[in-house]
Amino acid sequence: MTHTAVSVIAAKRDGAELDDEQIDWVVDAFTRGEVADEQMSALAMAIVLRGMTRRELDRWTAAMIASGRRMDFTDLPRPTVDKHSTGGVGDKITLPLAPLVAACGAAVPQLSGRGLGHTGGTLDKLESIPGWRADLDPARMRSILTDPEIGAVICAAGADLAPADKRLYALRDVTGTVESVPLIASSIMSKKIAEGTGALVLDVKVGSGAFMKNFRDATELATAMVELGTDAGVRTVALLTAMDTPLGRTAGNALEVAESVEVLAGGGPPDVVELTVALAREMVAQAGIRDVDPADALADGRAMDRWRAMVAAQGGDPDAPLPRARHTETLVAQESGVLTRLDAMAVGLAAWRLGAGRARQGDPVQFGAGVEMHCKPGDSVTAGKPLFTLHTDSEAAIPAAIATLRAGFDIGPVPPVAHPLILGRIGL
Ligand code: URA
Repeated sequence: MTHTAVSVIAAKRDGAELDDEQIDWVVDAFTRGEVADEQMSALAMAIVLRGMTRRELDRWTAAMIASGRRMDFTDLPRPTVDKHSTGGVGDKITLPLAPLVAACGAAVPQLSGRGLGHTGGTLDKLESIPGWRADLDPARMRSILTDPEIGAVICAAGADLAPADKRLYALRDVTGTVESVPLIASSIMSKKIAEGTGALVLDVKVGSGAFMKNFRDATELATAMVELGTDAGVRTVALLTAMDTPLGRTAGNALEVAESVEVLAGGGPPDVVELTVALAREMVAQAGIRDVDPADALADGRAMDRWRAMVAAQGGDPDAPLPRARHTETLVAQESGVLTRLDAMAVGLAAWRLGAGRARQGDPVQFGAGVEMHCKPGDSVTAGKPLFTLHTDSEAAIPAAIATLRAGFDIGPVPPVAHPLILGRIGL
């Protein structure tokens, strides 16, 4: 049967379930440039409004994968497992997590992205390490994963990995079609399945600083992604984790690398340690590794040894001083009490304004920029004592960042109710 973009758009607009042929044709024709950007944008909007069935979503995701290259690590001597976070403020967990899981006996092929907007990208953080390179060819990636002293790699996804998703995501970004469970789930999972991992742990963030603001929407997204992974033969599980307040005490590239190194050295903020160990336990279990507790590999320095080897294998110097911003400014408390709220979105936006993030794809980021938090919700504060230190190379950005931060916290007489960091789990 001959298809046209208009007939596929109209079918979805009118609430029909697209068949396999229609899906394969439209994704392939879009990849080849036969379906125009405005037609794909119209289809994306129809999907936002009408949704997709599980069968449609499986096929759509398979078509996105088939638009490019699919990697295969099934011949590696160790089981492969990866993690994906839907993005949060101060979320540096991948940095300690990948070497930790490698130290437990799995291979971790992590393809990551650069940040856009208020959440930082893993590659931006790692690129603050002098010499470190994100671009590895598949042969080098494989040799690092096979190396018994390393076993973890964090690098940029090549242009040939799910190229249909790259083009579609750029359209969604400018046509109000990002917020759709099937489109987000297929976008994330097409890249993760194409990357060739045997197992996957998803960290789906919930809260003011996350894509998904409430538990119900996050559960729907997590369920869709777990089903997609499972249907594609990738053992997949999701944790739902809180993102109302930032993770750890730093938001910004080099600042977060330094905090990750503290965690690998056996210290670091308790929430970062808790989430790193929880995700590592899930990853190790999904990889089928028994009788190894990641908490031990963190405590005895094995994860730190892997980190140093992993950084060096990608050209980085793990001992080199990290970049520091030219200007710092400290914001002090104007009253005494307890910090009752610290909003993740406000901290993320302040770090972005200070230069830690980018407004447009391809913009440079400042490696030393960001926000250091001296208090977290529940901590006592004293008038005149530091609450935050702002770091930036652009002094002129400081007043706007301070205004953003000021709107993002409250000090009161009564400690806030403590909420758990891990809110739920989806998967077998
Ligand atoms: N991240 C992605 O890769 N795709 C989306 O659609 C949303 C977040």
